[in-house]
Amino acid sequence: MSTVLTPAGASTSAVVTKLLPEFERLRKRFPPGFDSSLTLPCLRRIQEERGHIAEEDIEALVAWLGVPRVQVDEVLSFYTQFRREPVGRWHLQVCRNVSCSMRGAEGLLGHLCRKLGVEQGATTSDGRFTVSTVECLGSCGTAPVVVLNEAYHENMSAAKVDALLDGLGAGS
Ligand code: FES
Repeated sequence: MSTVLTPAGASTSAVVTKLLPEFERLRKRFPPGFDSSLTLPCLRRIQEERGHIAEEDIEALVAWLGVPRVQVDEVLSFYTQFRREPVGRWHLQVCRNVSCSMRGAEGLLGHLCRKLGVEQGATTSDGRFTVSTVECLGSCGTAPVVVLNEAYHENMSAAKVDALLDGLGAGS
């Protein structure tokens, strides 16, 4: 299938354009007619490259895949790992599903927000830290769990949160 990303009036994405050779190699690994299966790996690479998924990335990916826009939107809304907005250098996500909630996740979240001086879902004014919540991380046996960028921190407590932030230079 040929790639046409920039018909008159269409949006472009420098990130998607850069990744197209990689996407084309990926496409060869799937049987013909299964292009929609590329949605997830392509979105993952876009986020690795940009840090989040921008509107122009979605438009460019939809054009390249030739799938309905809703298909990409569904993937983005289902997987909480995907971000539609930029986040800070350090992204702290607190799980607050049942197991983590029962073991103090709400208190941890409040502690974290107070320490950094931000609301849940917000980024510190220096752009370094973002605090958000996330659904079950599949590590309920070690609840409560906080994810720092890609790394799990388990059996968390206020003291462990303090140590984690100290290690990132957030002070106490
Ligand atoms: S409820 Fe937090 S990891 Fe499952």
